[in-house]
Amino acid sequence: MSKLLTMKRIAVLASGRGSNFQAIIDNVNNGFINAEIVCLITDKPGAYSIKRAESAGIPVKVIDYSSFENRDEYNKNLHETMLKINPDLFVLAGYMRLLDKRTAKEFRGKMINIHPALLPAFSGLHAQRQAVSYGVKVAGCTVHFVDEGMDTGPIILQQTVPVFDDDDEDKLTERIIKKEHVALPLAVKLFCEDNLKIEGRKVRLLNN
Ligand code: GRF
Repeated sequence: MSKLLTMKRIAVLASGRGSNFQAIIDNVNNGFINAEIVCLITDKPGAYSIKRAESAGIPVKVIDYSSFENRDEYNKNLHETMLKINPDLFVLAGYMRLLDKRTAKEFRGKMINIHPALLPAFSGLHAQRQAVSYGVKVAGCTVHFVDEGMDTGPIILQQTVPVFDDDDEDKLTERIIKKEHVALPLAVKLFCEDNLKIEGRKVRLLNN
């Protein structure tokens, strides 16, 4: 018997150009993801993601990091904003700040992130540069639930790309981002169809 699914409400956090955000918008619009994008939250008033949201008719909440006295004030404002929006899922799509522990805890199991490396290798900033310097032969991207650490939460899915001898950071970044635009919408879709179950460190894929 198939279950009755209510349409999920998702909110996206992005700090930059937002190509992953666009991939989610496109996949909502073409029906691959059954959800409504209710808000874009950004910490950067000049982020290109804002233009993408406006073109798609998605409300934008700018929480300008530089306008706060300190990180705690920013975190408090972000936390309250997130509580008010209260979606089923937050998607971190190139959100370039580490969430404070309280926020990570509050939305545990309801927040996912895309990282341009095969975690647990190369967490943090400049993941593609780290991969090229290390000399790995395979790289890729990871979509994971967010926990209180940096890129440490339970892994939903990973996609791989080869690394070639003459790759530099830019070439690898370009190859990986194409996979990100597939992996992130797929993870969002699985979440929105109630197909993900977190069991400790593992995320089980249910076949609903
Ligand atoms: C992506 O590589 C994502 O994995 C990382 O930041 C980048 C954001 O790119 N967290 P975009 O803004 O989605 O184009």
